[in-house]
Amino acid sequence: MIVSVTKETFPGERRVALIPAMVGQLAKAGLEVTVETGAGQEAGFLDAEYEAKGARIVSDRGEAFAADVILQVRCCGANPHAGAADFELMRAGQIIIGSADPLSVAEPLQKAAERGVSVFALEMMPRITRAQSMDILSSMATVAGYKAVLLAAVTLPKMFPMLMTAAGTVAAARVFIIGAGVAGLQAIATARRLGAVVQAYDVRPAVKEQVESLGGKFVEMELESEQAEGAGGYAKQMDEAFYRRQRELMAEVVAECDVVITTAAIPGRQSPLLITAEAVAGMAPGSVIVDLAAERGGNCELTKADERVDAHGVTILGPTNLPSEAPYHASQMFSKNIVTFLLHLIKDGELHLDMNDEITRDTLMTRDGEVVHSRVREILGLPALAPQETAEMQDAGGVEDTDVAVDEVKPNDGA
Ligand code: NAI
Repeated sequence: MIVSVTKETFPGERRVALIPAMVGQLAKAGLEVTVETGAGQEAGFLDAEYEAKGARIVSDRGEAFAADVILQVRCCGANPHAGAADFELMRAGQIIIGSADPLSVAEPLQKAAERGVSVFALEMMPRITRAQSMDILSSMATVAGYKAVLLAAVTLPKMFPMLMTAAGTVAAARVFIIGAGVAGLQAIATARRLGAVVQAYDVRPAVKEQVESLGGKFVEMELESEQAEGAGGYAKQMDEAFYRRQRELMAEVVAECDVVITTAAIPGRQSPLLITAEAVAGMAPGSVIVDLAAERGGNCELTKADERVDAHGVTILGPTNLPSEAPYHASQMFSKNIVTFLLHLIKDGELHLDMNDEITRDTLMTRDGEVVHSRVREILGLPALAPQETAEMQDAGGVEDTDVAVDEVKPNDGA
């Protein structure tokens, strides 16, 4: 079976889905690896390194797509424009694994289904212990949280640490992190390492201890609530009155800070608006907001995705692809996630899709010419699959007790 790594085509994307050091693991599992020439170059991995590990370099994208399994950082909805050219290269029976942004941009999945391709969207990985090493949301959020702090540090006209020098005392920068999930916790740790005084807030009270263990101060707003935590440890959508009250309380804290990093997100929904234009006006000139929720509307009212906004001397940054700014390590982590997932699907050198397994079931978006994920079907306005089809294919919740044990996708010959 041939596994192929293609060069990313999303504008500005510098990551690669597989790094040379991971080629050997696939070879050990009986897989042949082909790599489109230059695929790893921007992340610092040269063709020669892939070749030295036993991969075959192909110069033609069509040839790269003539494989049984394609590994991509971004496919389908995660690369909706440039990636559209790949549809004609896809072949029935092929498997594509990558980030696919199925809940925001679902339409390309329908095209992939029409091509007879099975797409696995890694963002849909269940947040369970067994799947942690396959969880790209966690690994990429780690990179984003780190980079967000560095971005803020170079933009702020102040230094982060407190310094006592012969030229006087420099006060430490005050950093406020909103949303203490994976990115937020990494941002707290990074800002602390740089010497800032760090405060953090999350609607889920469970994270208070984690914030404190990293040296941050948890801001109590008498708003956080056990009910704010939904399935899988994620935050739930709250009502507008809750968010209004939160914005009022938030403005008071924000006004005292040099840097605000926002990471608050609700899976599959617009990000909650937490910092109003009025709250920005209350910040001192020179302050910086880095809004990591920019891709889904932003947590700050003035954020513009991938733009630098200046409001009353406050700089607001809304980067949407920070992992690509640390492409070497982001690729290393992504590669570990994707290889662990691929090996999870393989038994004796063959693909083996067990629809009773929630890792396989939750990430499978298309199969046998159909979009099979119930949430994505809903988004696309497609009728639910009949119960029998659902049992055979996938339905988050409905399949557990079926006795559909194993289903095979027949790998093609790679010709
Ligand atoms: P995320 O990116 O969806 O959200 C980021 C943070 O924003 C979350 O902590 C959320 O509570 C917070 N948030 C949402 N609305 C907010 C508001 N109005 N005000 C303040 N904060 C708000 O979440 P992420 O970082 O992907 O993961 C969240 C949690 O999921 C983790 O803390 C953990 O409990 C769980 N998780 C479990 C894993 C596993 O078991 N394999 C792996 C990774 C995460």
